[in-house]
Amino acid sequence: MNVVKAIKTRRSIRKYTTEIVSRIDLEDIVELASYAPSWKNTQTPGYVIIQDKEMLQDIAEHGVSGFTFNTGTIAGCSALVVMTAKKNRCGYEKDGSFSTPKGDKWEMFDAGVAAQTFMLAAYEKGIGTVVLGIFDEAYIAEKINLEEDKSISALIAVGYPAEKPVMPKRKSLDELIRFI
Ligand SMILES: Cc1cc2nc3c(=O)[nH]c(=O)nc-3n(C[C@H](O)[C@H](O)[C@H](O)COP(=O)(O)O)c2cc1C
Repeated sequence: MNVVKAIKTRRSIRKYTTEIVSRIDLEDIVELASYAPSWKNTQTPGYVIIQDKEMLQDIAEHGVSGFTFNTGTIAGCSALVVMTAKKNRCGYEKDGSFSTPKGDKWEMFDAGVAAQTFMLAAYEKGIGTVVLGIFDEAYIAEKINLEEDKSISALIAVGYPAEKPVMPKRKSLDELIRFI
């Protein structure tokens, strides 16, 4: 797919068919996401992919921090990608000090870049995605047995689209740009 078309027509998908997204497709998508830029090429984002239906239902009910808008999305998706990050790498010097006044915020920046790359790669295959930022990190970390040196950046629900959402309005260039 043409990049401009992909950027413009990708939508967050929250309703999915029952068709399963194959492991091969998920691997292809993660492989493409690995081409995303990262802080000093540290490539800290990782992908724990939950396909087990019982665990999806459990997280849908108990891992959404009371934000039940995300419950149906998680319960109905084919796979839930838990985006993880290796702690204390992005934004750091070798001696453990911060490289910039932004401290460790670059960790989330890298996760965002990787997430969009992941979602565009999925879209190219006709697979729908949505980033979920509201979730219970401690609950999900325990469920997936997350290593101590990692944190959860975000979730991405994945599945074949069963809806065609209208694009939420975008800001005008006037609102976005200030030339100097
Ligand atoms: C950091 C982040 C967190 C988000 N969290 C949620 C969420 O918890 N639940 C949800 O349904 N959508 C979530 N979204 C999706 C946004 O609502 C969506 O991207 C926005 O409305 C624009 O729609 P579009 O993706 O179709 O262009 C999130 C998106 C981002 C980037």
